[in-house]
Amino acid sequence: MSRRAVAPGRVNLIGDHTDYTDGLVMPMAIDRYTEIHFTPDPERVRLASLDDPHKVDLPLTVDDPLTVEPAWGRFIAGVIAEVHPRAGIHGHVTSDIPIGAGLSSSASLEVATALALGYQGSARDLAELCRRAEHRATGVPTGIMDQLAITSGVHDHALMIDCADLSVRPVPVPRDAEIVVRFVAQRTLVGSPYAERVAQCALAAASVGPLRHATLAAATAIEDPVVSARARHVIGENQRVRDFADALAAGDLAAAGRLMLASHASLRDLYECSTPQVDAVVEQLAATPGVYGARITGGGFGGCVVALTDPGALNTGWVVRPVDGARLV
Ligand code: GLA
Repeated sequence: MSRRAVAPGRVNLIGDHTDYTDGLVMPMAIDRYTEIHFTPDPERVRLASLDDPHKVDLPLTVDDPLTVEPAWGRFIAGVIAEVHPRAGIHGHVTSDIPIGAGLSSSASLEVATALALGYQGSARDLAELCRRAEHRATGVPTGIMDQLAITSGVHDHALMIDCADLSVRPVPVPRDAEIVVRFVAQRTLVGSPYAERVAQCALAAASVGPLRHATLAAATAIEDPVVSARARHVIGENQRVRDFADALAAGDLAAAGRLMLASHASLRDLYECSTPQVDAVVEQLAATPGVYGARITGGGFGGCVVALTDPGALNTGWVVRPVDGARLV
């Protein structure tokens, strides 16, 4: 019998580069999906993709996911290495999540693969497993946000995630608001300064203690100006996530939009993970009537901008809606 594993992408509304220091994030799963259509296979994982003529064909034991070809097979291999499946699958992958755009196409593929391989843990365990798979596949020390948003999505809600205890609190997205994603530039976090940022946060924490509990004054006093700036971003961003959740809950779109703009400025100036091209798009959107706020979303260094708008305010970009998390059909 043929089955289908379906995993959404995600967009982060606010709270970037906070997840790997036990901070707060506010993503939502979106109505763009990776799907794996499959039947059981006794001993291999054989998958075709509509986006690549090269097929993935892997045994049930993979030693080094980082070297698998084609490259999208690395995510499959990373998941195989974590799930230890007793049997394989045979089928094909489809996706309408743009690759390398900051909308978590890879995390979505990991989660769909784990479900297709029969993993049955909780949404949280599934997310943690797929995060480890991502590390095996890319070598980039990413946080838990993407995978947890994809496994825990709730229809019509954004997710306030506390990365310290992995609790997920759904917050309704006001019905009179639209979330629009504008693609700017393709990028990959492999080889990007992402890992360096993670290391700088670790340096900051070594000096002032866990960033989740550090004060702005302590971060300001850090001697190294770059490390200090990274820490100040994280501390400010955690507070913005709290304030954003309150603004959404109160239906105060103007306040929510201002927080998104402040988040972008902090990612641009303190965390230095935006690009001039992304900044220009944020400025242009922010100046458009009916747009409350806009910001870079996800890991940065390119990717997408997310905007909070009145319905129909923008006629370019994708309107995305919050959806339920991944499932097996
Ligand atoms: C990438 C990572 C996430 C998170 C974001 C930045 O998407 O996979 O864990 O760190 O960057 O917020």
